[in-house]
Amino acid sequence: MSSLDPLASSPFWIKIAPQERAYPIYIQPGNLSRLAPLLLGRLPAPKKVLIVTDKTVHSIYGEQVKNQLEEVGYTITTHIIPDGEASKTLPSAEAIYSAALDAGLGRKDILLALGGGVVGDLAGFCAATFYRGLFLVQVPTTLLAQVDSSVGGKVAVNFKTVKNGVGAFYQPQMVVIDPRVLSTLPERQIKAGLGEVVKYGLIEKTRGAYIRESFFDFLEIQADNLLDVYPLLIERCCQIKAAIVSEDETEQSGIRAYLNLGHTFAHAYEAATDYTQLLHGEAVVMGMLKACQLAEALHLFPNSETRRFLKLCKTLGLNLEPPEGLEPNTLLTLMHQDKKASNNTINFILPHQEIGYVVARNNVTRDQVLSILSFDKN
Ligand code: NAD
Ligand code: GLY
Repeated sequence: MSSLDPLASSPFWIKIAPQERAYPIYIQPGNLSRLAPLLLGRLPAPKKVLIVTDKTVHSIYGEQVKNQLEEVGYTITTHIIPDGEASKTLPSAEAIYSAALDAGLGRKDILLALGGGVVGDLAGFCAATFYRGLFLVQVPTTLLAQVDSSVGGKVAVNFKTVKNGVGAFYQPQMVVIDPRVLSTLPERQIKAGLGEVVKYGLIEKTRGAYIRESFFDFLEIQADNLLDVYPLLIERCCQIKAAIVSEDETEQSGIRAYLNLGHTFAHAYEAATDYTQLLHGEAVVMGMLKACQLAEALHLFPNSETRRFLKLCKTLGLNLEPPEGLEPNTLLTLMHQDKKASNNTINFILPHQEIGYVVARNNVTRDQVLSILSFDKN
């Protein structure tokens, strides 16, 4: 079998009801060079493709992707956005709609997101809304996007002060992941992605998500040489996420909310620092520690398990200390403003009994939260 044979990269399918909406996730080193056959295998007729990417990713991978797709007959237009969260806005979406219009895209054409979570969320939002839906292909290039944001169909832009304030659930036609692109990703971004990876270890045994041997054990064993196991690690994260999303695509039953472990605290840390100091995955690590401490205070989770979590984070070099000077009362106010809070109650996802299990709690008192937010040292 040639290394460019798409079958060399056998996907697993994320099941979304009804059955026709299931889609493949291809994970294999070298997949970026196989993008053309993979795309042709799923969306065969030569079509127009609008590639949305950011400046950095375009400078490294843009030409390779464009040339490859042109060679097999796709008509390519590339739209480049500035790097970073500041691009996840309605004006950026409008610029993409204009590019789609200028390129003459129709509803059977493809919007291909080549980049991290910012590109994926923004391009996904445009794919969901332009002409009420274009085919969306996710080609994630950060660790965070490969293990989380490209899978499961949450697409959005930020609106005023609300992160992901305007968005949709819109599943892609396929996700193509090449772990090799992580070789150019800065260390800080890798660590931010590892924050979400550890999260999967903390929620993996929840409902249908528990697949094989413990993912957290796997991370503990491999912590010193993760580079060697990225394909497997990414696959395990995507499988856990796929199992959860299949069960609760639009976060109705509460199962999908388990993916938000640590995020209530994390969003407050991000908002309190104007979304400029912390990367999302960095805030999630700090938020997960707070979730462990809150669970301990509520007698839901033993300290020995929190220490296991701390040890893994330290081995992976993840920072657990929130920026200094953040007022607990300010953080609590921000937690109440989070779009997941309702009727003045915050829904906390907390670790439960042992690593791998979580539980939702919406009856935590103000004082209990404040006491955890004031508890600075780990
Ligand atoms: P990002 O998209 O901002 O990318 C980070 C930086 O890495 C950018 O400067 C980018 O140019 C650069 N980069 C990307 N790939 C590269 C590569 N292979 N080599 C070199 N540089 C590369 O950040 P992110 O962490 O991927 O995404 C964060 C966003 O994801 C946030 O907006 C967050 O809200 C969103 N998110 C969405 C979901 C979801 O379910 N939809 C889940 C988690 C996070
Ligand atoms: N990243 C959370 C979710 O996809 O639901």
